[in-house]
Amino acid sequence: MMKKVFITRKIEEEVIRELSSKFRVEVWPYEDQVCPREELLKHAADSHALLTMLSDQVDEELFEQAPELEIVANLAVGYDNIDVKSAAERGIIISNTPDVLTDTTADLAFSLLLATARRIVESADYIKQGNWQSWSPYLLAGSDVHHKTIGIIGMGEIGEAVAKRARGFDMNILYHNRSRNQEAEDKLHASYRTLDELVAESDFIVCLTPLTEETRGMIGTAEFSRMKNSAYLINAGRGPVVDEEALIQALQDGEIAGAGLDVFEKEPIDVSHPLLSMKNVTAVPHIGSSSVETRRTMMELCATNIARVLTGSEPVTKVQ
Ligand code: GLV
Ligand code: GLV
Repeated sequence: MMKKVFITRKIEEEVIRELSSKFRVEVWPYEDQVCPREELLKHAADSHALLTMLSDQVDEELFEQAPELEIVANLAVGYDNIDVKSAAERGIIISNTPDVLTDTTADLAFSLLLATARRIVESADYIKQGNWQSWSPYLLAGSDVHHKTIGIIGMGEIGEAVAKRARGFDMNILYHNRSRNQEAEDKLHASYRTLDELVAESDFIVCLTPLTEETRGMIGTAEFSRMKNSAYLINAGRGPVVDEEALIQALQDGEIAGAGLDVFEKEPIDVSHPLLSMKNVTAVPHIGSSSVETRRTMMELCATNIARVLTGSEPVTKVQ
């Protein structure tokens, strides 16, 4: 019997067609709806591979009900939605999609920084709502980006790609990371700082660190109180790395000047959430790697990883 692959979201036809030539492929048929938990568990029960989204919880409960499962290919670089320890204990391979999304995600992080500093979204709303009365010296005046200090938290591949962009804007580059990144220091002239130093010295604090037990809530009340009142927080990593209550308070109290957010504690964020009604918050719906080209490449990489594992080879991008 052909091995079964379950894909938790409607994806590109060609990706499915190729997998279908070798395996029995079933797909949750909606592009904009999460596959319900019961459906996921039901399919996992006889699947050899799952192609999952970061919105799917892949945990002990699922593994217990999936005796045939060989690989979970997550359509993301982050894999905090997956219990990798439990997968390892069961010999289930986890793959992600690093590298292929690095530049696209860095482009988004830097766009969010620029949009927040220069009030692009607010300005676009202003003109479309018919509010433009006259050219005025301080109309929607924002903050400069060039020659300012950027502080990158999480100096992995995406952090380095953001630093590269920052160099083009003549920014002073600081970073914080679990371990020193000598290459970033040598090639990108990034200077290491402790977290306390970084938040105090930066004009733009860009958070890209993965979500782990160590990084959960890493940016909280104490960090906001150390930031300059003119500082901006940009989060394009994972929502729970920032304590959202503390962020709201910091914005309300004027501890910081604004925030650009691609990620949130709870996704999708509720439309009534206080962050969404603040003028100095630029919010976008977790679109870091969302270019047509990159999403397509990520899907192909997931499909390749699945095909390799189901035919007895190593995946190209294995988490563990
Ligand atoms: C997106 O957030 C990813 O982890 O790829
Ligand atoms: C950074 O803040 C600078 O001095 O340009």
